[in-house]
Amino acid sequence: VRVARLIVKSSDPSSSVERSRGKITLVGAGPGDPDLLTVKALRILESADVVFFDDLVAPEILELLPARVRCIYVGKPHHAAVITQDEIITQILAAAHAGLHAVRLKSGDPMIFGRSGEELAAAHAAGIPIEVVPGVTAAGGAAASTRISLTHRDYAQQVSFLTAVRRNGVLADVRGLAGVGKTLVVYMGLVRAPELSAALGADGVAANWPVAIVENATRPGERVILTTVGDLGPTVVRENIRTPALFIIGEVVKTYAADVMPASAAVETVSAFA
Ligand SMILES: C[S@@+](CC[C@H](N)C(=O)[O-])C[C@H]1O[C@@H](n2cnc3c(N)ncnc32)[C@H](O)[C@@H]1O
Repeated sequence: VRVARLIVKSSDPSSSVERSRGKITLVGAGPGDPDLLTVKALRILESADVVFFDDLVAPEILELLPARVRCIYVGKPHHAAVITQDEIITQILAAAHAGLHAVRLKSGDPMIFGRSGEELAAAHAAGIPIEVVPGVTAAGGAAASTRISLTHRDYAQQVSFLTAVRRNGVLADVRGLAGVGKTLVVYMGLVRAPELSAALGADGVAANWPVAIVENATRPGERVILTTVGDLGPTVVRENIRTPALFIIGEVVKTYAADVMPASAAVETVSAFA
């Protein structure tokens, strides 16, 4: 993986030709498996001048880029303040102002828990053309690789995607999102698992309501751990679940059948409910 630092001067009003060429594309890299990259995403990546990429973008995807494309890491591992969102936006805008095609490569789908709204607003405000190329979101990748359909005529007529943590660090409002007829997929829930479990319980979700924890969906080392809402917090600790992971909460989890998984998937299963 080639990683470079990009140093671009901010806009030069004299070079209107270059400025008119500059543009930004927000691209979804999918959940990890490089084969899940869309044809359009690959085409855009191949034509980019510079790619600003996140933590969860698989190295195999960066290896698909032509050697001339500069790759700049702008990840925020474990939310550490290595680079702020404002700094990322400044860098992307500066690259586009310098006449470059800047790609912001995000894991999954850029429009789901990807802070794309802020980058779109900044580009619009700066008058820079910006396009979005969707990707397979982690919930879709996890559903496919576990064969747990997120909707099911018998079990779930609706599905919600929730990030466990709000901007102010407070647990998100889970009221009404889980229970009979509903599937709830929780992103970024690991550190909030005990609180999430308590909040769901307080909302009337049964302690034995099924949960599948999917770690590294579509990536090497994918694991599926079956547990319950009541035992979610202890399971995360006991099984040493690491990011990236998400929770699928609902009766659809009952359809998970470890024996249909290919042996090569290296899936481990802990069954906590019948
Ligand atoms: C900042 S969000 C980005 C979501 C992304 N935009 C998407 O659409 O999937 C990061 C969270 O997505 C989830 N995630 C991303 N990739 C995953 C994977 N391969 N397996 C399980 N969860 C994943 C995890 O909950 C992780 O903490």
